[in-house]
Amino acid sequence: MLGVDTAHSLRAVLGQAMGEARPDAVLVTGDVAHDPTEQSYDRVRAILAEFFDGPTLCLPGNHDVAEPMGDLLQTTELVLGRWLLVALDSHVDDTPEAEVSDADFARVRDAIGCHSEHFVIVATHHPPVHVDCPWLDKDRIQNAQLLLEWLSERPSVKGMVFGHAHQVVEATYRELPLMGTPSTCFQFAPRSENFAIDTAMPGYRWLTLSPEGGVTSEVRRVQDYPLQIDLSDR
Ligand SMILES: [Fe+2]
Repeated sequence: MLGVDTAHSLRAVLGQAMGEARPDAVLVTGDVAHDPTEQSYDRVRAILAEFFDGPTLCLPGNHDVAEPMGDLLQTTELVLGRWLLVALDSHVDDTPEAEVSDADFARVRDAIGCHSEHFVIVATHHPPVHVDCPWLDKDRIQNAQLLLEWLSERPSVKGMVFGHAHQVVEATYRELPLMGTPSTCFQFAPRSENFAIDTAMPGYRWLTLSPEGGVTSEVRRVQDYPLQIDLSDR
């Protein structure tokens, strides 16, 4: 896409990240495939397996479709020690806009209720808040207010992570950290009115979750990646 071999840049991200430390899990915040076929999801699974043999949690984005993605990848939740990573499905098949249905929200509430002894990270695809890019902000989760209100009132919920914006976002709702992660391919330009590409490198985010419920996080970018954008390839 846009001249970037997205499998190649994904391998660059995974190679660098796994060279830094072996994580307990990999969290993929959506748009796993642009061409959402069984072969695409199999290919993603195979690329992840080249670098990591532990658990993965993959969220569907606006380019994904629930089937076959949900048949081939873990898309609901992961339990890691004292922590629950729970997926909030914000996608709707075949549309870029976000929607968290009552059923999607109920699934997250139920998962958190069933894991009352666990600290929680909620992962979703679309931003739940404005990211200062009007062309992207129209696709944020429109009915996020209730959701954020509810999550921020749960002491066990320690953060929310999301994708879609192809840029770093560090926001809060009350005390709840809201963390947007760069894309593993090209980036969108921060604070842009209209579609605009940034020259920043493919990136990823480390989440360090302590047994006492603490969250620290850091965004890293691949070094020396031969990123060449071709805007004619949209
Ligand atoms: Fe997206």
